[in-house]
Amino acid sequence: MFDELENIRLKCLGCQKCQLCKSRNNIVFSDGVPNSNIVLIGEAPGFYEDQEGKPFVGRSGQLLDKIFESVGLSRQNDIYICNTIKCRPPENRNPLPEEKDACREYLDAQLNILKPKIILLCGAVAVQSLLPDLKLGITKIRGQWFDGPFGAKMMPIFHPSYLLRNPSKEVGKPKWLMWQDMKEIKKLYDEIKNK
Ligand code: URA
Repeated sequence: MFDELENIRLKCLGCQKCQLCKSRNNIVFSDGVPNSNIVLIGEAPGFYEDQEGKPFVGRSGQLLDKIFESVGLSRQNDIYICNTIKCRPPENRNPLPEEKDACREYLDAQLNILKPKIILLCGAVAVQSLLPDLKLGITKIRGQWFDGPFGAKMMPIFHPSYLLRNPSKEVGKPKWLMWQDMKEIKKLYDEIKNK
């Protein structure tokens, strides 16, 4: 598994399939535990991720780590993290369809190797990539389980950048909803682990 993932990473290093290769400082391949049951798919690398070559290391990533911590999960022990695309779009704009299409083979290859039991679709861009026929907004579908590749269960969750803009923890607000989703995810993760 490790060698196979490394081969894809090496392919990404030399990738010139879309225009983002011209402006990237680093490809952002993954972080976390490769043989985990949970894969989180975010949107795209931002400024800090492009600098460090690691996903979710900026403010959103710090909040994401805290959210995982609140239910006893961590990227060091439990989760593999990647994005819909491997290179940073200029000015942090959303990835263009042709950029997502060009990069899709790498994401699919990662999922094919990892075959995770749980896939977290973090934010609207990841939802559009993995559930393209679903036309509902993330507030309508977050917290629900959908069937994913290789028998995985997939859950759309809010992106941490949205939670940074909506920091209230009041019952019913986005941060509170995220916590409910995390508890649901942890429940399934524990069930799978104890099987
Ligand atoms: N936001 C994302 O969706 N992914 C990252 O890696 C960083 C910020």
